[in-house]
Amino acid sequence: MDIKKQIQDLRKKLHYHNYRYYILDDPEISDAQYDKLMRELETLEEKYPKFQSPTSPTVRLGAPPLDKFKKVEHRLPMLSLANAFTEEEFLDFDERVKRFLKVTHDIVYMCEFKMDGLAVEIVYEDGKLIQAATRGDGIMGEDVTQNVKTMGAIPLELRGKYPNRLEVRGEVFMGLKFFKALNESRAEKGLPLFANPRNAAAGSVRQLDPKITAERHLDFFAYGMGEREGLSLSLQSEVLEHLKTWGIKTNSQVEVCEHPKDVLKFYNHSLKRRETLPYEIDGVVIKVNDLTLQKRLGEIAKSPRWAIAYKFPAVEATTQIQDIRVQVGRTGALTPVAYLEPVSIAGVTVSRATLHNQDEIDKKDIRIGDTVFIRRAGDVIPEVIKVISDKRTGKEKKFKLPTHCPECGSGVVQEEEEAIARCVGINCPAKLKQGLIHFVSKGAMDIEGLGRKIVEQMLEARVIRHMSDIYDLNSEKIMSLERKAEKSTQNLLQAIHASKSVSLARFLYALGIRHVGENTAKALADHFGNLEKISKASPEALSEVQDIGAVVAESIYSFFKDEKNKKELDCLLSKGIMFLKSKKKSGKWLGKTFVLTGTLPTYSREEAKKIIEDNGGKVSASVSANTDYVLAGQAPGSKFEVAQELGIKIISEAEFQKMMGK
Ligand code: IVH
Repeated sequence: MDIKKQIQDLRKKLHYHNYRYYILDDPEISDAQYDKLMRELETLEEKYPKFQSPTSPTVRLGAPPLDKFKKVEHRLPMLSLANAFTEEEFLDFDERVKRFLKVTHDIVYMCEFKMDGLAVEIVYEDGKLIQAATRGDGIMGEDVTQNVKTMGAIPLELRGKYPNRLEVRGEVFMGLKFFKALNESRAEKGLPLFANPRNAAAGSVRQLDPKITAERHLDFFAYGMGEREGLSLSLQSEVLEHLKTWGIKTNSQVEVCEHPKDVLKFYNHSLKRRETLPYEIDGVVIKVNDLTLQKRLGEIAKSPRWAIAYKFPAVEATTQIQDIRVQVGRTGALTPVAYLEPVSIAGVTVSRATLHNQDEIDKKDIRIGDTVFIRRAGDVIPEVIKVISDKRTGKEKKFKLPTHCPECGSGVVQEEEEAIARCVGINCPAKLKQGLIHFVSKGAMDIEGLGRKIVEQMLEARVIRHMSDIYDLNSEKIMSLERKAEKSTQNLLQAIHASKSVSLARFLYALGIRHVGENTAKALADHFGNLEKISKASPEALSEVQDIGAVVAESIYSFFKDEKNKKELDCLLSKGIMFLKSKKKSGKWLGKTFVLTGTLPTYSREEAKKIIEDNGGKVSASVSANTDYVLAGQAPGSKFEVAQELGIKIISEAEFQKMMGK
């Protein structure tokens, strides 16, 4: 094929898939397929440099670094916004607007999120991105074209019918997920941390090496235009609509409000939404929607009279760490928690912040007595972002996680690839509750009538403390609990008794050993045949079982080595637990592995799983080269794509039924 045509086709495809991914949020191909197209184009362009183009998708990979940024003068100044912090201040603004325009009727406002990033202006000529600049002082900015071109969220070429020359204005920002990941990797490398996503975004755009910008997962929302040739618009809402038609990302969560009351509603609603958004907003921007009125209102001291930023309370604060204590969670995870000098953040008094794990403490070098910068954003748990080292006095104390569980004294293990240290004690009170709930649940010991509520009641009343205590329950103990009738008590005792006959696999699963799910429990039972052998197996012997790797083997090994666990196991067995002989596996799907994804038309996941297992097959949670079939229903997840890439047979429910012989 003609090389030029081939290159053009690839570019067109990549522009299109970029649009599907970033603008429509509805990709048609996988990341791997996208990368493959990109590599093909890159190879061709390298081989035939005469076909290079400044808006080829390959510029996303990043141009060579600069020595310094060029200055750029904005054709129209980029203004900043005046702030309001209270309802009253917003209402004053509304009054001022009306007074200036000499009107008494309500003004129509466009309400938008105030994105917390940095403002940029992007210039398109003949539909092609030719320049991007920071706001700078509003008159002169820095030329960050090569950096902005690496951002997938910003189109290199416009779609549809566009003006010959167009200046797009908007906010570059970094999503919370990427901000966290970036800081984590910087902490690991000992690099200074970014205080917030805004600084991270700004640091990533004002970056002399575009390849670094390319790695930073920056995002973009446009909220306005500078100069636009030959395009006459009359409303801000039209501005946003037009941007969208050219394939430019705008935030869809905007509202045209016809009354100040509705503006206040938008503000309050946004304030609530703030916690759940994947990016940070620091307020709402309220703009007079009518562009003719905007023009009449004009500006004063670099801020327009036609808009205001109604800010949210800050999510950041500095405070002191008074102590670091350890909490033991459901899975036995030991979490260090900073006890803080109480400080108010966004209307909430914060006195604790999670420190996640020892690694995190070490990386950020957090010590007791430190003054720290904390944030409570996106999620509800406040986090220590960084230490303000200037405030160190030398009296700060380092913290080390205990080697034994503070709740029960059992050993603490930290698996090699995990940052979390966990208590291995089977009877740790903090773990016990969840452990007991799991022990009695369906799929495990399956004791009907013994749900979460009753387990909690029993623990509270100290009727049970350990798993084995369940088998010492009698009608007197059960009846002592609230609202326990004679009949249900007898049923419960019956169910407890019945649960003593159990398959080895179920029993192993019921113990709640970390990493031992139903499948691993079955594999262990099949391989070793009895509990004695499993409890004495070395990590090496355990690793020989199909699908058990070093991490899982180590977890099983340390579980059975723990003295307290040994005692509890003996106790359980002494209550008369009997292992049912496992049926020899058979069926037409013996040795076949299935993965389920999406919603099936008639079967529930549980039902499909049961059918597969009844026919000798296995159900696995993730797709790998060992998967034989992916049973896909409606709205399948990423497993579907992975299966496609690995060339694994994907079947529908109808095909599945055919295979069953239905
Ligand atoms: S309008 C004169 N709309 O806030 C109009 N700005 O404090 C000014 N910002 O420099 C821009 N979200 O970086 C506008 N929806 C939004 C915005 C927004 C964030 C930023 C922008 C601007 C700053 C002004």
